[in-house]
This record gives sequence, C-alpha cells and structure tokens, in this order.
Amino acid sequence: MSEIKNVLVSGGLGYIGSHTICQLVQHNYNPIIVDNLSNSCLEVLNRLEIINNRKFKFYQLDCTNLEELEIVFKENKIDAIIHFAAYKAVGESVKEPLKYYFNNLISYLNIMMYLEKYKVKNFVFSSSATVYGIPNHVPLFETDPVQKATNPYGSTKIMIEEMLEDYSKVHKDINIAILRYFNPIGAHPSGLIGEQPNGIPNNLMPYITQVAIGKLEKLTIFGNDYPTSDGTCIRDYVHVMDLAEGHVLTLNKFQKENTGLVIYNLGTGKGTSVLELVNAYMQANNIKIPYVFGPRRQGDVVSNYASTKKAETELGFKAKYTIYDCCKDSNHFQQLNPNGFVKINK
Ligand code: NAD
Ligand code: WQD
Repeated sequence: MSEIKNVLVSGGLGYIGSHTICQLVQHNYNPIIVDNLSNSCLEVLNRLEIINNRKFKFYQLDCTNLEELEIVFKENKIDAIIHFAAYKAVGESVKEPLKYYFNNLISYLNIMMYLEKYKVKNFVFSSSATVYGIPNHVPLFETDPVQKATNPYGSTKIMIEEMLEDYSKVHKDINIAILRYFNPIGAHPSGLIGEQPNGIPNNLMPYITQVAIGKLEKLTIFGNDYPTSDGTCIRDYVHVMDLAEGHVLTLNKFQKENTGLVIYNLGTGKGTSVLELVNAYMQANNIKIPYVFGPRRQGDVVSNYASTKKAETELGFKAKYTIYDCCKDSNHFQQLNPNGFVKINK
C-alpha cells in the first residue's frame, strides 16, 4: 500500500517488456531496465527513448548472475519488480531443457533473493496460458486447474507459480501478481517497436508478417481438421499494448491495497481461429497472404481463450484493440522494419 515509483523491469527490451515500458511512462512510473540482450538488442532502448522522449536507466546484465544483479538494487530504490526475463521458445525448451530450467528458474530465484533483501513489496510475474495445459472447457478461468506441462518452458512457469504461492503464504505483506498471458500480437502504434524473433518464427503472427513482406514465401496452417467451425485452432490474440496496460493496472491496484498473491488472465475473452486471423490480416492491410494447409503441429491444443472477468472486475482491465488493430499494427511494424531493429537516428 505504499507509493510505487521505480519499477525494475527485467527483460525490458524484449517484446512485451518494451511495450510495458511505454505504458509505465504514460502512467508516471519510472522504469529501470535490466536485459542481457539474449533475445533483444540495444536499438530497442534507442527507440524507447525516441517514443518516450526521455532517457532510461539501463543495466545490461544477466539475471542469473547474482553479483551483477545486486548492483541494480544497490544503486536504486526499487519499489516494484516486473519480471519478464526468460527464454520462451517451446520447441527449443524441449531440445535444451537445462538451458531453460537454468535461465528461467535461476533468474527468478535471484530476483526474489533481492526482493527480500531490499524489502521490495511488489512483484509481477509473466506467466502464460500454457499452465492450463489441454483445457476441457473454454473460456479458461483463473480457478481452473494448472495441468502438468508438456514442455520444459511450461514447467518453468508452473514451478515459479508454485514457488510464488509458497512464498506468499509466509510473506503476506508482499503484493504478488501472476499474470497469465494468452497470445500477444500487435505492436506499438508508432511502428518503432514490435516483435522481432531471431530466425524463422515459430509463432503465427510473426510468420504472417514475414510472409507479408515477402521474406517467407507462404504460411503453413498447422491442421484444418480440428473440431472448430473452420477446422483450424482457436486462440485468444491480445494486443501487446493492452497486455502492457494490464501491468500498469496491476501496479495501480498494488498502490491501493495489500493484495497478497493474485492471479489474472490477460486476454480478450474472445477466441479467433487461425484462418480468421489470416483473413483479418489480409483485409486490414489489403495484402494477400499465400497459405497452405499442413499437418497438425504436435502439442497444439484445439482451443483456448481466457475468461477476463476477474481482470476486468478487479483491475479494470479490458482489451481495447480489435483483431484488425492487431493485424494493422503488426504489419506496420514489419513494413517499417523489414530487416529488424536497424539503427535509426534520434
Ligand atoms: P522476449 O524474448 O521478447 O523478451 C524477454 C527478454 O528477456 C529479452 O529481451 C531477453 O534478452 C531477456 N532475457 C532473457 N533471459 C534473461 C536473463 N537471464 N537476464 C536478463 N535478461 C534476460 O519475450 P516476450 O515475448 O517479451 O516475453 C516476456 C515474458 O512473457 C517471458 O517471461 C515469457 O515467457 C512470457 N510470456 C510470453 C508470451 C508470448 O507469447 N510472447 C506468452 C506468455 C508468456
Ligand atoms: C497459434 C496457432 C498454431 C504457426 C505459444 C506458446 C505459449 C505462449 C504463446 C508463451 C496454433 C498455428 C502457428 C504457423 C500455424 N507463449 N500456427 N502456422 O502455440 O498458441 O502459443 O505462444 O508462453 O506457451 O505455446 O502460439 O503463435 O505458435 O500458434 O498454423 O506457422 O497458430 O498451430 O494453432 P501458441 P502460436
């Protein structure tokens, strides 16, 4: 219930982190950025400074490095932590489980050691809809059971959720929010920041945007024989600016009350099929996206989307951007940055 000003944002130059920085600034929070650039680049910082017309304190360091991480806490009075820093590629996590367990779990544990040592009272954790596993109904509620993960990436999210629950039981004065993101897409309306995966994208939207600029030839839709209205899988695609705002609303709530541990789904509450998304992209941008149907991708769930009632009631969270806005903004970012984050002058 104390005032929050300085917010340590780990992984703050990544896709969701960078958009959250913009929303934090809009709401008068002061973000302090930590990132090891393992899946981002310094140019994102340059662009954040252009968008927000200010400088940021940035620490290029690895959260798994306990000694280096402490510098951030020694040099700043941290009021809240938003912990994005993690590896997130599901397929890679299956091939390199140790890499994922080490990075995601040690980063988290180190951050928590300093949360305790430096008496930080507010913590927000990036979790994922993946913790729901194979849903037996939609929409998904926060009270639905967490199911055994099908990959090491998902396991790290479940383990950290459990560790937070244990921690919260004995540290009731610490505000902890577990935010379960559904499928973030879209980009900042400026087109200066957005999602820029290394190599061939695994996820649907970055794949579509790269087909749109001719970098990839065509999209393969993984399966059109699912029990859905058009045979393709259904997901809850949420604009990254809406998702980012969810973090600000969480901090706002922390300032008003002692929440203990809370869990919120961040999505739109609406399911969209792969084909619907591809068609929306073509319509919104007046671009043709060549696609073919291929076999199902192993591990895909047929349908998942959020119930956002709890986040709406308790945080005032409601997605404002439509699927068309998402498609426009993703395309805008990709068209402006066909070769990724090339340096631009201030
Ligand atoms: P991202 O890879 O774009 O951002 C993560 C950032 O963390 C990167 O900039 C990376 O360089 C940094 N990082 C990784 N390990 C680090 C370490 N040890 N020390 C310091 N920095 C480190 O990913 P994102 O899409 O922005 O995801 C952010 C968080 O949200 C992750 O925890 C991810 O698991 C979670 N999440 C993402 C999605 C999604 O679809 N994008 C969905 C659900 C949950
Ligand atoms: C969406 C739909 C694919 C690519 C993943 C993680 C999840 C979370 C969000 C972090 C599916 C289809 C995809 C392609 C396709 N991340 N698709 N052709 O699998 O819902 O979720 O990102 O927590 O944990 O698993 O997202 O974008 O990969 O797929 O047809 O080339 O698009 O089969 O139906 P997913 P996605």
